[in-house]
Amino acid sequence: MASPLVPLAEIPTVALLYKLKHLIPASSPRAQPSKAFNDTISLIRNDITKLQVDCIVNAANKSLLGGGGVDGVIHRAAGPDLLEECETLDGCDTGDAKITSAYELPCKKIIHTVGPIYGIELRKGQERPESLLRSCYRRSLELAVENNMRSIAFSAISTGVYGYPSETAARAVLDETRKFLEQPSNIGKLERIIFCNFERKDEVAYEKLTP
Ligand code: AR6
Repeated sequence: MASPLVPLAEIPTVALLYKLKHLIPASSPRAQPSKAFNDTISLIRNDITKLQVDCIVNAANKSLLGGGGVDGVIHRAAGPDLLEECETLDGCDTGDAKITSAYELPCKKIIHTVGPIYGIELRKGQERPESLLRSCYRRSLELAVENNMRSIAFSAISTGVYGYPSETAARAVLDETRKFLEQPSNIGKLERIIFCNFERKDEVAYEKLTP
């Protein structure tokens, strides 16, 4: 049986996860606790194609023409019109993002970002994978705001086939998201930013590092 759709109202915020004692506040947090962050960020473990949010973020490759992993799942669920639109986009650089319609999906738009292939980028420089991963999230958040999206759900970019270690990724992603939310021009623009994990290892990383 197909799993049910998940409305935005059913996706718990970090504030609710604390209240439910599903997340435990850190004894010595790396950053100042922020109500805005706790009310905006959500964690969920689910199939991202089931989320009824404004837009979802696909972990694509540079061709933007589909692939395995979450990319394959999104293309199959959206239907063949998605590939037709992607063919007009002329690919995408690593660290950048492009937006399309969502076709058969319950969201309004899909943002396709290309994460770093961890091992390859690391050989080019110690800082490279992290700066490219941060760029994926920043560009996706910028595109969401430019397109008047109010809610955005991210798959765990690069942590599958591209080999990015889950905790290292989550730490950079949470920090970059916080920086984005704290920028005065972005305040109030996004109602919800959801980290949608699929595998337990990624959920564990977010549950550990969010507090
Ligand atoms: N919903 C949410 N997350 C999912 C789902 C799903 N239905 N299925 C898998 N994931 P990956 P990458 C998670 O490998 O590492 C493709 O072939 C998965 O558990 O999809 O960025 C592209 O075309 C993992 O945490 O993407 C590229 O060639 C996360 O999605 C390449 O893979 C990302 O895993 C990109 O590699």
